[in-house]
Amino acid sequence: MPHDFMPGLAGVPAATSSISDVDGQRGILEYRGVRVETLCSESSYLETAYLLLFGHLPSPREFQQWTTDVTHHRRIKFRIIDLLKCLPESGHPMDALQAAVAALGMFYPGRNVKDVENNYWSTVRLVAKLPTIVAAWARLRHGDDPIVPRDDLEFSENFFYMLTESVAPPVWGEIFDDCLILHAEHTMNASTFTGLVTASTLADPYTVVASSIGALKGPLHGGANEEVVVMLREIGTPDKARLHVEHALRNKKKLMGFGHRVYKVKDPRATVLQELCRRLFKECGSSPLYEVALEVEAAAGATLNGKGIYPNVDFYSGIIYDKMGVDVDLFTPLFAMARVSGWLAHWLEQLRENKLFRPDQIYSGEHNRPYVPIDQR
Ligand code: CMC
Repeated sequence: MPHDFMPGLAGVPAATSSISDVDGQRGILEYRGVRVETLCSESSYLETAYLLLFGHLPSPREFQQWTTDVTHHRRIKFRIIDLLKCLPESGHPMDALQAAVAALGMFYPGRNVKDVENNYWSTVRLVAKLPTIVAAWARLRHGDDPIVPRDDLEFSENFFYMLTESVAPPVWGEIFDDCLILHAEHTMNASTFTGLVTASTLADPYTVVASSIGALKGPLHGGANEEVVVMLREIGTPDKARLHVEHALRNKKKLMGFGHRVYKVKDPRATVLQELCRRLFKECGSSPLYEVALEVEAAAGATLNGKGIYPNVDFYSGIIYDKMGVDVDLFTPLFAMARVSGWLAHWLEQLRENKLFRPDQIYSGEHNRPYVPIDQR
């Protein structure tokens, strides 16, 4: 058996998949063969989620059914709200989200993952309820009551309504929806792989998604979007960006929101996010963070671009959320709300030809070591 060890499984295929594809040299991302830029200009998050989950763009009838199903499953049980109320309000929203999603599985037991209909409803519930959980936690931790979702509002509009109890300007809903599309799926990343490993044990989908949420939280993955805004705020003004970047790189510190295992050019999602930033600023005035970010990108580029390190999806997304008044520690939960459709698409794909993940290791320890009794050590 070959034993070429690839740290971080870099370049090692873990599955065959027809869900999405990245061309890291040319900066192209496709969902089911459709360019992500096209989906942002033509589609909606819910339609894109359908495409990812079921492999084709829905017919008008399919789309109506899917939208109705998701809309009717947005509410969460009062016991899930009670559970959130019991968590420490200073806790990270990703931990609250993970706990609530794991608990959902106790209310909707779907242990038989061979049941196609049950799998459909689990998918509907998870896509529908994650935003409600995120918004409920965002309010509960400040002592406010959660807001019941409104069926007459579209997916993204409803999220802002549940967060603020007011209907955001339509352009916010459109921009936010595009952000969700951009974050919905990204081939075999750490959280998707985590979900696949869990799925391969035939665990229920709530457990699959809860495990993916755990992996997404880390700063090398989805947690980077939060760290970027913290960094930009710390820098404060564009004139201080160069010094900050040079100091960080000299001290071998990684710049959050830069670099990618697959992209060796600028992440196409970062480019679209910049367009969305500009669109938002036209409506609501500019953001000082954006000016700082541009300077950071220019300053970092001088050293990092030669190594194939450019801004990734996490670099500009937080600036949009910040402008929309979303708390910085909610940025990664927003990522999860979007990515749940990608995770579930991989879960469904894994179930079709499941094989338990059980990789090998290269043992680097000792053999035949004597046991020394405790009083002789
Ligand atoms: N800033 C400075 N140097 C970097 C960065 C960065 N952001 N990313 C990679 N490098 C350097 C790294 O120091 C190393 O240099 P050297 O060869 O001189 O030691 C080289 O590039 C290779 O780095 P690596 O970490 O071994 O490469 P990787 O393929 O494992 O990196 C990464 C992928 C995303 C973990 C990494 O680029 C990183 O840590 N970036 C910052 C965190 C971040 O923005 N994560 C979000 C990733 S994209 C969206 C998502 O998944 O959420």
